[in-house]
Amino acid sequence: MPEMAPYARHIFVCVGPFCDPEGKAKRLYARLAEKLGDLGQYDNPQRVKRGITPCLGVCHSGPIVVIYPDGIWYHQVDDALLEQIIEEHLRNGRPVEEAVYHRVERIREK
Ligand code: FES
Repeated sequence: MPEMAPYARHIFVCVGPFCDPEGKAKRLYARLAEKLGDLGQYDNPQRVKRGITPCLGVCHSGPIVVIYPDGIWYHQVDDALLEQIIEEHLRNGRPVEEAVYHRVERIREK
């Protein structure tokens, strides 16, 4: 089996053409590694993995960013909001409530 260091969260940026026709999300993602700093380091147990996705099924009000396992979705993310998300949500565990527009409801086990 492949080995992988533990990580705490995964951040996905939608780079699809419908929610973000101006392509701002691609620029946000390109800067994400630098913005994450130590949170992106492989040996940090609080590590945040980053990824892009072609669509999150919303298709407007982008750039759209979702963070798992929290299941928290942000919309209209710009550089300033991304930095706030990194500092408050990813680093300190407090979602940026005013920018949250959706939360994944956990399905209860029967
Ligand atoms: S293209 Fe981004 S949510 Fe569909």
